[in-house]
Amino acid sequence: MKKINLVSIVVLCIILLGGCASEPNQEVNIIPQPQQVTMADGGFTLSPKTVINVIKGADDLTPACTFMSTLVEKSFGQPLSVVNGEMKRDAINIAVDPSMRADAYDLTVGKKAIDIKAGSSKAVFYAMQSLRQMMPVGVEKGEKMDKIRIQNVRIQDEPRLAYRGTMLDVCRHFFTVDEVKTFIDMLALHKLSVFHWHLTDDQGWRIEIKKYPKLTEIGSQRKQTVIGKNTGKYDGTPYGPYFFTQEEIKDVIQYAADRYITIIPEIELPGHALAALASYPELGCTGGPYEVCQMWGVFPEVFCPGNEKTFEFWEGVLEEVAELFPGEIIHIGGDECPRDAWKKCKKCQARMKKEKLKEEGDLQNYVVHRIEEFMKTKGKRILGWDEILEGDVSKTAIVMSWRGKKGGIEGAKRGNEVVMVPNDYAYFDYYQAKPVENEPFGIGGYVPVEKVYSLDPTEGLTPEEGEKIIGVQANLWAEYITTFSHAQYMLLPRMAAIAEVGWTPVAKKDYDNFLKRAKLMTQRYEALGYNFAKHILQEAKTNE
Ligand code: ACM
Ligand code: ZN
Repeated sequence: MKKINLVSIVVLCIILLGGCASEPNQEVNIIPQPQQVTMADGGFTLSPKTVINVIKGADDLTPACTFMSTLVEKSFGQPLSVVNGEMKRDAINIAVDPSMRADAYDLTVGKKAIDIKAGSSKAVFYAMQSLRQMMPVGVEKGEKMDKIRIQNVRIQDEPRLAYRGTMLDVCRHFFTVDEVKTFIDMLALHKLSVFHWHLTDDQGWRIEIKKYPKLTEIGSQRKQTVIGKNTGKYDGTPYGPYFFTQEEIKDVIQYAADRYITIIPEIELPGHALAALASYPELGCTGGPYEVCQMWGVFPEVFCPGNEKTFEFWEGVLEEVAELFPGEIIHIGGDECPRDAWKKCKKCQARMKKEKLKEEGDLQNYVVHRIEEFMKTKGKRILGWDEILEGDVSKTAIVMSWRGKKGGIEGAKRGNEVVMVPNDYAYFDYYQAKPVENEPFGIGGYVPVEKVYSLDPTEGLTPEEGEKIIGVQANLWAEYITTFSHAQYMLLPRMAAIAEVGWTPVAKKDYDNFLKRAKLMTQRYEALGYNFAKHILQEAKTNE
């Protein structure tokens, strides 16, 4: 009797253990949700002996391989070797196939090998991010392991929109090179493709321009900062000098490129100009004096487009910016530019007369056209806030719709390419939870994660017009965000939602399922040491 019991226990154990080992997980939990997932039984065992095997590469494949190799290095105590050869066992076999769409990948995790076919190195990187999210979160913090099991699955995937971005304002408050790099890491984890870097504004000029050194000598610091929402009380503490040297910018550009992320720099014109005017007062309509702004809002002191020197300045700045940033698109701002100063300015009025411009709005339009023509000579396209639609903006300019979706819809109907960043869905400086009194002090508004998730950037457009929507983005303005930890809190988990908006077709989106995956994703945030709004998902309904 005793003996039988022992045998049956052993048999039961074998069945159970065997069963566990071959039991397929019912799903993989990836954000953004891939287009097509086919589950299979079993798993692949990644070990220090597994190699990254490039069957058919591309010039820029190295960073994707390095990413995977170093991801597991901390756990394994050694990186994975990268080799070239025919299809192998115990390998991550990679083939870049230019006949596939550029951002598409086909990832098969089999029992003996992992195979990645992809349209580009960037898409190989996306496959790596999917693989990463199938690994235990311990890899993110280098928990010691000698093997990593990855569920057998086939994922055929590509993004809905090529441009999936997030904007970081480093003017109102500054973030260091290391913090900006961590921000880029956050974009990479979510398969975002664009970092929109807001580099100039009233409260600080943050990019070194060799031809105009006073921009950073004077414009990168303010005497003090207003307390709260323009209360009239100031903290009495100088802020700055804070700026990025061109060498630092090159370093950040390379860091982003190694994660297949394009940086779009923004140089604000003709408004939001006080830091520049404090540095070069002759570029304003009155000649100043001006001060780097110490409070928040929209200010009447803007650049003087009546003065030819202002164009010389813009072109000098943009020439250096165009040389630094390899991407095709440069953001030239264009938002919130009061025109009262132009009405009173002899130079502006003379320009309007000479160019036969009827009103000051036409003068802004003249600026945008002239700058666009200049940027074309540098091989660049311009992107501007939706105010640029108020004139007869050229068809080649890209419109960034921020005052809701309205501008984007109008732009697409006019035939312009559009990036959707509607403030009521995608402004991550807005509160994400109620009661707002329990949240860190912020600018106002209310954009909970569910609202972000509900954005359909092409809603209300015909399929042909919808083609004009090239992207979607979230914006993090930093008036009230004084630390990077607070920035992360505002970005996470909403960044996961905007990533899925940009990647996953509407038919595949499912908010309850997203919540479940987002909860798992927060374990990864925790392992990576990212601050995030913990209560958001705890309070949200899930189907777990
Ligand atoms: C903006 O929020 N002023 C573009
Ligand atoms: Zn003027």
